[in-house]
Amino acid sequence: MDRIRIVGGPELHGVIPISGAKNAALPLMIASLLTNETLTLENVPRLADITALLRILQNHGVDYKIDGKRPGEVQTTGRTLHLQAAAIVDTTAPYDLVSKMRASFWVVAPLLARMGEAKVSLPGGCAIGTRPVDFLLMALEKLGASIEIEAGYVVAKARKGLRGGEIVFPKVTVGGTHTALMAASLAHGDTTIHNAAREPEIVDLADCLVKMGAKIKGAGTSTIEISGVARLGGARHAVLPDRIETGTYAMAVAMAGGDVLLEGARPELLQSALDTLTASGVDIISSNEGIRVRRNGAPIMPVDVSTDPFPGFPTDLQAQFMALMTRAKGASRITETIFENRFMHVQELARFGAKIRLDNDMAIVTGVEKLTGAPVMATDLRASVSLVIAALAAEGETMVHRVYHLDRGFEHLEQKLVACGAVIERLAG
Ligand code: UD1
Repeated sequence: MDRIRIVGGPELHGVIPISGAKNAALPLMIASLLTNETLTLENVPRLADITALLRILQNHGVDYKIDGKRPGEVQTTGRTLHLQAAAIVDTTAPYDLVSKMRASFWVVAPLLARMGEAKVSLPGGCAIGTRPVDFLLMALEKLGASIEIEAGYVVAKARKGLRGGEIVFPKVTVGGTHTALMAASLAHGDTTIHNAAREPEIVDLADCLVKMGAKIKGAGTSTIEISGVARLGGARHAVLPDRIETGTYAMAVAMAGGDVLLEGARPELLQSALDTLTASGVDIISSNEGIRVRRNGAPIMPVDVSTDPFPGFPTDLQAQFMALMTRAKGASRITETIFENRFMHVQELARFGAKIRLDNDMAIVTGVEKLTGAPVMATDLRASVSLVIAALAAEGETMVHRVYHLDRGFEHLEQKLVACGAVIERLAG
């Protein structure tokens, strides 16, 4: 298994190009199942999760080309994907494919809406809490589906097609909102989603569905209205920039010090995280080119944060911010409200000498003068990058094990950091 070696100390200076958002690309790719025409997606990041989803989609009958080439002709995933599900050849998504990535469960919605049936393995994904799918199934039931659980599979049926309905999510759910949007777009009649997620990735999916012929109003607010259409067509859509990657590198610069332009980043996608960084003593300068992040010798100040659905502070940046707070001049409280058990990075950060105490859903971080490099283990996608951030400011060498977690979500991580002066390399095997 690959490892990443980091020697802490250098400041970061230069330009980091921000990739397309993984969490937008995944539902957009899944939307290709809704039509027999070609969906072309630009700005798709080169990530293990994208490759894994391509394999799942292919199993259902999606033919794909990457940058105009067919599978096998290129080694890596590419920037432009052409996806065509001319015919759905299989409505089953098997365990061995779905168990690796939670978002792949969302194929249940387009398969059910287009084919009247779907059999999808219950999901896996990052080990951050139990992460059930009850809200997603409730939404499909509200649209007229019958749902049964058989031997670890969800069997969803709507023989006469889905019909519009009222969906009220008891808690904000990104996956639930994506699923409901896709299913309702091809249902007979009107659907209203109440307490919908407002994340930018929801808006990106809705924008693409509208280009495909869907009738959707209110995406980006808590109430989304959809008038079902009989069929959807092809479209061309560019994936929005990755706000989590943006926030992660912003925190890396805040930690290591320096001055970096996050090229192509859009501040409105992560204003709450940028405000938090500003409060911690970092200069944030937005322009047409992206977001410039600068910390020239100023101390890192402690800031309390609580994760929340968008537009609040994202749970996917909680671990990275905690890494930054380990070097703050004082104590900060970090509260996790979205996922229970999303503190696995705490014990790994402690290996650097960080002082963190857990109190239920809150971590109390007392900043220390210095961190020391250590061997550490990546546990989930976002937690693993928090270890990289800590390592950038730690004295000496850090070895991050199990870096396949990083490859799921961060495109060219080492190259992007090396280009700004970090000492970081991947060791194969
Ligand atoms: C998505 C993101 C993930 C992010 C999360 C919250 C993708 C691919 N993943 O995950 O990176 O951390 O949003 O912003 O976009 N819940 C239930 N029942 C359900 C569904 C959710 O109880 O049926 C709970 C979850 O356990 C969690 C909360 O609702 O506590 C929010 O989860 P949700 O927004 O659905 O997360 P994902 O869509 O899985």
